[in-house]
Amino acid sequence: MANRLSSLLAALYPKATSLIGLGLVSALSLSCAHADGYDFQTHSEMSDFVRQDCGACHGLSLKGGLGRPLLKENLDHFDLETLEEIILDGIPDTAMPPWRGLLSQEQAKDIAKALKEGSIQ
Ligand code: HEC
Repeated sequence: MANRLSSLLAALYPKATSLIGLGLVSALSLSCAHADGYDFQTHSEMSDFVRQDCGACHGLSLKGGLGRPLLKENLDHFDLETLEEIILDGIPDTAMPPWRGLLSQEQAKDIAKALKEGSIQ
């Protein structure tokens, strides 16, 4: 059934199905790479994660890149809860991805707190 449906779709929308296929493949490889989510035990492990994974877009020293700077002075206008939500849900229609599923709510809260305190080393 699924096969018949997809070949029907492929006949009708060849471009669309290959795009959907690609999307599935990348979603799968993403979920494989981080199948267990992140597990940082210490503040320094969390700092490494933020520098590398958030820093990929926000700059290794969090001073901004594709995404805006994430230094303490840049985040004053956000309260902790908003920051936590941004981390978990991303910002729709921008490159800021949602981290829900990869980070727990607790981890997002810890990162939000560390960013606001400026304690990411
Ligand atoms: C794929 C690139 C990318 C990654 C990875 C990424 N971000 Fe972002 N982020 C962005 C972009 C782009 C924006 C700006 C969106 C906009 O135009 O409002 C943004 C915005 C934000 C904002 C709002 C900043 C502001 O002043 O409006 C916060 C907070 C944030 N990101 C935190 C994080 C954290 C924490 C991580 C890691 C868990 C992270 N981001 C990973 C691209 C990324």
